Amino acid sequence: MSAAASIPNPAEQPQSTRRDFLVLSAVAFASVGAAAGIWPMLHSLDPSADTRAEATAEVDLTHIKPGQAITVRWQGKPVFIVHRTEAQIARAEADDKAATIDPAKDRTRVKRKEWLVVVGVCTHLGCAPTSRAVGDLAPRYGGWVCPCHYSQYDISGRVRRGPAPSNLPVPPYRFQDEDRLIIG
Ligand code: FES
Repeated sequence: MSAAASIPNPAEQPQSTRRDFLVLSAVAFASVGAAAGIWPMLHSLDPSADTRAEATAEVDLTHIKPGQAITVRWQGKPVFIVHRTEAQIARAEADDKAATIDPAKDRTRVKRKEWLVVVGVCTHLGCAPTSRAVGDLAPRYGGWVCPCHYSQYDISGRVRRGPAPSNLPVPPYRFQDEDRLIIG
């Protein structure tokens, strides 16, 4: 199992010191065959047609501490699951009126404030947004930046700077119990 390590709160850290959300592939698993995976590896994986077709993915949340995130695969797509801190929640809610490209209140994008679940595919041309701060690619709004054309997403997954036209989609999901998430 991967060691869990805290990440700096993007809202509290200089952009130059931000690190990518920790990927804890070992704590995410698929109930019916959808493979969990480390985000950078997703490009090299070639899910089979039957994997793509799997309807649901089940994720154990117990090892994802506040401030950490994982990426799991669901129907062939990466899904970001972020355990948000109080500061991240406050930032997301404070920015409700600032997200003007595809306006949405944070509370409409989560079922539990501490858990953000979004499809990790840029809504411009489908590149992979990253939370890693690398030079000019630093996320500016506590979420992700797309390396292709620099769209910016906040910690609610809302697009804050284009060319992406819309927010990161929220997939269908539910909490099976306190510590278990079902996507799909
Ligand atoms: S594909 Fe993300 S900004 Fe163009």
